[in-house]
Amino acid sequence: MATAPAAEIPSHVPPELIREIGLTTGPEFLAAPHKFMAELHETHPPLFYSVNPLTGNSWATIKHEDAFFALRHPEYFTTAGATPFPRDPNNYFYFIPLEIDPPHHRKYRAILDKTFSPQGVAKLEGYMRKLSNDLIDEFIDKGECEFTTDFGRPLPVSIFLDLMGLPQDMRDTFVGWAVDLLHSGDRMTAGMAMRGIEAYLAKVIEEKTANPDDGVIGTIIQARPDGVPLTEREIFGFTFFLFIAGLDTVFATLNNMWLWLANTPDRRREIIENPGNINGQVEELLRVFSVTFSGRTLTQDLEMRGVQMKAGDKFMSILPACNYDPEIFPNPTEIDFNRQRKPILAFAGGVHSCIGAHLARLEIKIGLQEWLRRIPDFSVKPGAAIEYYPGGVVGPKALPLVW
Ligand code: HEM
Repeated sequence: MATAPAAEIPSHVPPELIREIGLTTGPEFLAAPHKFMAELHETHPPLFYSVNPLTGNSWATIKHEDAFFALRHPEYFTTAGATPFPRDPNNYFYFIPLEIDPPHHRKYRAILDKTFSPQGVAKLEGYMRKLSNDLIDEFIDKGECEFTTDFGRPLPVSIFLDLMGLPQDMRDTFVGWAVDLLHSGDRMTAGMAMRGIEAYLAKVIEEKTANPDDGVIGTIIQARPDGVPLTEREIFGFTFFLFIAGLDTVFATLNNMWLWLANTPDRRREIIENPGNINGQVEELLRVFSVTFSGRTLTQDLEMRGVQMKAGDKFMSILPACNYDPEIFPNPTEIDFNRQRKPILAFAGGVHSCIGAHLARLEIKIGLQEWLRRIPDFSVKPGAAIEYYPGGVVGPKALPLVW
């Protein structure tokens, strides 16, 4: 039961559905986040009211079916204000395309659909393999590495820079911004990072407007949906959101997976011995190690599972928990690479389903193939204590590995 002041909880919320479980922030969650979210199915009602003084209050679903409903019915669930990042009201920008509801959402999404299609991202495969190997070359002979800083972070950041049409020598600066913005836990530090990104992107947008190229930023600048170019604020909000959405998610996903691989030698062997099932392996690992959540606001009153929700209520799909829904995935905590395929919610669904899903899947696949080819046996450094980042993207802070 919640201890938060009753005033913050709308009066229509039934008291028996109010829970304060420290989702994304509390000690039990941070001790073993995926176990915690899997167990919600045993300890919680399918729809409850989550109270969290740090991240805010909202309805929370752990059911695959209900999350899909919310994601597929924007007429009830708007993404307006879905992200937690504060913005200057006098110079406001939207995080595009996430914060735009249909039908307007389509015109933005269409700009990048081709770049992020399976064929579009396949062009990056050679580069991803080379990059994975270059990174591994830097530490393989030492017999150890700190996975998150040596591989988990630089891999997606370098790929992102390449895709966006930004120079590779910005890698460390981008890594620094991503850490400060998403993980410092300090508003001043996060604000400084946001201003750094803002100033840099403004300069890049100006340069690429004068000299367009075929990177993602250049493509957004040259787009003419309905015959009209995007405004400078739209281009900025679009580019900035890609930065937020595309770096930390892949990073956290790789870190979770490699922690599991380090701890389960027999399962690692299974992956190595079944190279033909790599796509099934990636999909199952994405199911059990989903890293993020989906927030919405109700646009109208709605009853779900006999519970009356009201317009203006916040609503969150705990996507990792939905991927452990035993009604959809029997024995949900068992990692079964031959599991019958059902849609997973790691990348959400509906119109806002992750535009980077094909890219992320390819990064994970190539990361796994190249790492396991070159470092098939490895474990967590003895004595290392694994701690998780609090917040909306779930993954370990550091992962020292030895081989
Ligand atoms: C494993 C890695 C990733 C995960 C788990 C992930 C997860 C998600 C989820 C759950 C959403 C939906 C949010 C919602 O509906 O509230 C989303 C949307 C989005 N993601 Fe990803 N993402 C990943 C990688 C990427 C990458 C690599 C990019 C791009 C470089 C990216 C760009 C986006 C964009 C632009 C959206 C908004 C789509 C729209 O509103 O139409 N993501 N992502």
